[in-house]
Amino acid sequence: PLTATVNSQDCLEIGGCDVQGLIEEFGSPLYILDEVTVRTACRQYRDAFARYYSGDTLVLYASKAWNCLAICAIAASEGLGVDVVSGGELYTALEAGVPADKLYFHGNNKSIAELQLAIESHCTIVVDNQLELETLADLAQKTSPDTQVRIMIRITPGIECHTHDYIRTGHLDSKFGFDPHTLDNVFAFISQNPILDCIGLHAHIGSQIFESQPHKDLGAVLVDYLQKAAQFNLSIQELNVGGGLGIRYTEDDDPPTIDAWVKGVCEAVVNACNQQQLPLPRLLSEPGRSIIGPACVTAYTIGSRKEIPQTRTYLAVDGGMSDNPRPITYQSVYRPVVANRMSAPITETVTIAGKHCESGDILLKDAQLPETQPGDLLVIMGTGAYNYSMASNYNRVPRPAAVLVKDGTAELIVQRETYQDLIRFDHLPKRLVSQD
Ligand code: LLP
Repeated sequence: PLTATVNSQDCLEIGGCDVQGLIEEFGSPLYILDEVTVRTACRQYRDAFARYYSGDTLVLYASKAWNCLAICAIAASEGLGVDVVSGGELYTALEAGVPADKLYFHGNNKSIAELQLAIESHCTIVVDNQLELETLADLAQKTSPDTQVRIMIRITPGIECHTHDYIRTGHLDSKFGFDPHTLDNVFAFISQNPILDCIGLHAHIGSQIFESQPHKDLGAVLVDYLQKAAQFNLSIQELNVGGGLGIRYTEDDDPPTIDAWVKGVCEAVVNACNQQQLPLPRLLSEPGRSIIGPACVTAYTIGSRKEIPQTRTYLAVDGGMSDNPRPITYQSVYRPVVANRMSAPITETVTIAGKHCESGDILLKDAQLPETQPGDLLVIMGTGAYNYSMASNYNRVPRPAAVLVKDGTAELIVQRETYQDLIRFDHLPKRLVSQD
């Protein structure tokens, strides 16, 4: 999927730009995002839904995976909507020009200010719980009594899937969504509050999922709830099956293709609707990782080396848990290459360490690499999802720049933080400033 090649200098090129040149121009570490790969994934989702579903469809890019102006704009230009989960993500998507009717606002504890921004921007609000439902009805009545607010209801579907515990969301004790047993009350409340225009039902069961069955089951479960809503005279036309399709971080990972995943979901929804004699709803999904994950690599510069005889060799790079917190958080595994020695034979097993003051700041255990020198470029593949978006300034390390590459040109989409940026919100109380 990644438009990567190796040039005559034995250096990795992404989107026609050689990684060495990019580091010289933009500094290290660097997120390198391949535009063609992002656009291809957007189109694969869009086209597969059109192919396998005769009703209307919409794919939302789950921007929590990586939210910034350029990526929201790319998703929108491919005809995708955008899923946001905070006022900040919503603001960014609006600034990027994503149309309000394609913006969906999630979250299990939206603040009043966030709800207000959502009402004013006319996006669709995915309501998570009873307090939010009541608060929203109240707020909308007070601040824009003449305009209905489009909402969806998020349901906890009770579907189990095999992924890391922190990122499973569909099981019944999840913090997200309405307990399905309370739906009668929810639908009754909505039908008594015409300021709320309930257009659909939503569920999300987790992330980095390799099985196809859970999402098929989810499609069928959501159709059941659609039937229930009809009993309350609510004309709900949209079903959103969430995101969650896994990607291939290493050779051992074997997720379904986008096409196969979409086919499974569409068939399940069509079958369930046929069985219940319901018209086909508009079908939505909101993938994040599978759109942005494979499209990015992080390039680091190799620095110090520590050899512990008979134990292990550490190779340290100039980034780590601040630009990629996934290994320390989820024990995630990635594929490394040495970008300026692409065809050098693999000769050693090393542990790639980050530069942070924390023993657990290890990017990769037991990586198979060629011999390297300080100054060589280590590239970690598949870092587009939940790296930049979860990055921090731990140890006051400035966050890296991100460049978008295509046809041999690179453009900055996020600039590198400076030391001045790091202290921009610091305040030094007068009494702490020395007087002498
Ligand atoms: N929709 C909802 C409501 C979600 O909560 C999520 C992800 C998605 C869509 C997109 O799921 P995806 O297609 O990206 O799997 N930080 C974790 C992942 C957290 C996922 C949170 N929700 C990680 O780095 O693995």
